[in-house]
Amino acid sequence: MQFSEEKFARHMRPINGSAIREIFKLLARPGMISFAGGNPSDTALEPRVVARLAGEVLEKYGTKLLQYGATDGFGPFRESAAEFLRHSRVNCTADDILPTQGGTQAFDVLLKALIDPGDVVLCESPTFLGAIQAMREYNAKLVEMPTDDEGVIVEAAEALIKQHHPKLMYVIPTFQNPTGITLSLERRRALAALAAKYGVVIAEDDPYRDLRYAGEALPTIQSFDEEGWVVYMSSFSKYIAPGLRLGAAAVTNPLLRRKMVIGKQSADTHSPLLNQAIVDAYLRAGLMPDHLARICGDYKKQLDAMLKGFDAFPAGTRHTVPQGGLFVWAELPEGMDAMRAFEAAVAQGVAFVPGTHFYPEGGYMNTLRLNFSMCDIPTIEKGMAKLGEVIKGL
Ligand SMILES: Cc1ncc(COP(=O)(O)O)c(C=O)c1O
Repeated sequence: MQFSEEKFARHMRPINGSAIREIFKLLARPGMISFAGGNPSDTALEPRVVARLAGEVLEKYGTKLLQYGATDGFGPFRESAAEFLRHSRVNCTADDILPTQGGTQAFDVLLKALIDPGDVVLCESPTFLGAIQAMREYNAKLVEMPTDDEGVIVEAAEALIKQHHPKLMYVIPTFQNPTGITLSLERRRALAALAAKYGVVIAEDDPYRDLRYAGEALPTIQSFDEEGWVVYMSSFSKYIAPGLRLGAAAVTNPLLRRKMVIGKQSADTHSPLLNQAIVDAYLRAGLMPDHLARICGDYKKQLDAMLKGFDAFPAGTRHTVPQGGLFVWAELPEGMDAMRAFEAAVAQGVAFVPGTHFYPEGGYMNTLRLNFSMCDIPTIEKGMAKLGEVIKGL
């Protein structure tokens, strides 16, 4: 008997993750210049520091770190993560912190706790591909909220809440993936007010917050939340190392946190104690500020090189000028097709992600996302020059 499509759960059948997987296969080609990923730079990673801290915490805690642990998390890490998030103006205590396998798992267990098939989730238009996939896996109905250069348009979001009665709103407020745009202060306050007024949970996904190269940090949406409607999701992937798979969700509503803990229990029992202890030691040793200053200094130069590279693009191309994060978003002149540009660019050895993939409903064929963290400056200059030439030649 053949294994047929019908064997799969209905909600998994249309999901094949193909678009981006195909792109990542291409990146393995020798000489390919990739603006497609979203990884931190290898030069941002600190294997020696991690090795030293791993040795120290194993010495200190012994077998405890190699045993099973509580789903709620490793106590010292919950304390230091809460302290770290309070610096980012998240109102939380150690009791509110749920360690997760990156921000990915925080969103997954939140969806698991809240979403029945067909429930509406509002998300930014465009939004993070990984989140789109996760929402689809729970059979959520995705409704796109219009955005401009200050992020989600609040009046439009309110109209959509009245129309669709969503359970959840998913927002990436700082240096958004894919656009690099930051939600303005007033809109942060306004979204928190909408959540309380209509009883909508907000998933505030903020993994890029501390990768700021210009401008002033803004308060989180969560800081305006007095009733526990906002779940704040942070991650150490972009700050320390994605391979540690460690994030921290601040969930001030104890009922919701309990449900997320139960959801995590069946997923992985707990996040690795060793990794929680390493990040705890990193934070307690006060290594984060200098580390962030170093990597932000490097990323800023890479971003500037990429922005300058747009000089080679066709007249009428618009692009964001992010104050941080890892991505720049571009809109080619109306009528140009970024999918065609992608094929032509890959043939010339440059890759990026066509923007249409970031829209749950597709469309927006003239958009593209460019990442600058994984290439050094000469490579960015070369890649942008090639890309501009290819697009002009379409
Ligand atoms: C907006 C956003 N959220 C969440 C994640 C997931 O990251 P992690 O699970 O490594 O924390 C990413 C990674 O690229 C992201 O861009």
